[in-house]
Amino acid sequence: MLSEELLTMGDFPESWKWVRDLTEGGQGYTFVVQRSDGSDEKHYVLKRLKNPQREGYYEREVQACMTLEHPNVLKLLEHGPTPKGKPYLITEYCAQGSLTNQTTFNDVREGLRRFYGIVAGVSHAHSQKQPIYHLDLKPENIYLKGDVPVVGDFGICFIENGEVSLTSDGPRGSIYYCAPELRGPKISGSPALGAADVYSLGKVLYWLFTNQVYDGHEDDYANVPSRRLVRLFPSEPAFDFVDYLIERTVQKEPSKRIANAQELYHELLAVLNRIDAGGRPLDLRLPLRCAFCGIGTYKPLRDLPSNEQRLEFAARIKTSRPVDIYNEMRGDAAHKFGLGDGGAYNVGPLILMCQFCGNTQVFRLDLVPNAERNWKP
Ligand SMILES: Nc1ncnc2c1ncn2[C@@H]1O[C@H](COP(=O)(O)OP(=O)(O)O)[C@@H](O)[C@H]1O
Ligand SMILES: [Mg+2]
Repeated sequence: MLSEELLTMGDFPESWKWVRDLTEGGQGYTFVVQRSDGSDEKHYVLKRLKNPQREGYYEREVQACMTLEHPNVLKLLEHGPTPKGKPYLITEYCAQGSLTNQTTFNDVREGLRRFYGIVAGVSHAHSQKQPIYHLDLKPENIYLKGDVPVVGDFGICFIENGEVSLTSDGPRGSIYYCAPELRGPKISGSPALGAADVYSLGKVLYWLFTNQVYDGHEDDYANVPSRRLVRLFPSEPAFDFVDYLIERTVQKEPSKRIANAQELYHELLAVLNRIDAGGRPLDLRLPLRCAFCGIGTYKPLRDLPSNEQRLEFAARIKTSRPVDIYNEMRGDAAHKFGLGDGGAYNVGPLILMCQFCGNTQVFRLDLVPNAERNWKP
């Protein structure tokens, strides 16, 4: 047994006592430990390097953890050599383990709030004077303290100091999460590392709602509708906002991605605020349930069903509402909004009407910020 071996070798810092082993990661031996002097009963984590040739990385990990101070970044307590001169570090213990222990989120807000904490931690790292890029973001390296996600394992991070650049021979993050430009064996040019972390964060976001690694081609996310989360959760159109974030992060071409974690943080905040305010995606490819009757869905006025179809629909759901009133309202709305005016309204407005009750929503697309993004015909 690994830990017994280490203990009998006496290669454990004296001030700490072994409690149990943690899942073995790629580069370190990790253990739950307690203080030997019993000054507190709390659990901590001791991590030791497996491969002594990786000491340069270990030093970066220490430096990153010492520099960063943020509720969503793993706290370093102590570091030093073991009795046999091997480096170790002690961090806080996150009792709920890594994200891999949690079940998927079905609630769009809850999942996005969890993601928000993760992005906040990475954004803190990216916004240092000497930015710190994690480069190994994946569910296994994000831990949970209660509900709070904590970014850990800066084991292969890169700290930008203007002198060194990323080399081709260093260790790489998981193939499933690592940005394509940083995958194997050679790295060409000097890739933008902020955008590389953003890529991995997009994959983590997909994982939060599915417990699956996104397995499609990156460019399919935007272009293959069946891949989108909104298809997996048809009753919650707000997943369209999540899809938008994945689409802007899981891109093969780095320049098409959101550039860094700070920008992702702001985009995410805007999305969360919009969802909290009851905002909805304006995407005509999705069924948009009527905000008034809750029965029908909105259709652009131009392809509203015929009266016969509407009567048939009404009969199908066995309602006694006077459908004629709705027809009248529909006629009224069409008149008010100048429908049939042809060329006069080249840019707008977009008129959506509930195919059942006639509730009408009018959008001046010339006023919609980023109409091309917020409105999908
Ligand atoms: N502070 C911690 N709290 C809880 N679990 C942890 C902590 N640190 C590590 N672990 C667990 O141990 C595993 C390996 O640790 P990690 O720091 O990722 O090492 P490696 O560099 O070997 O991947 C993690 O995936 C996680 O399950
Ligand atoms: Mg790890």
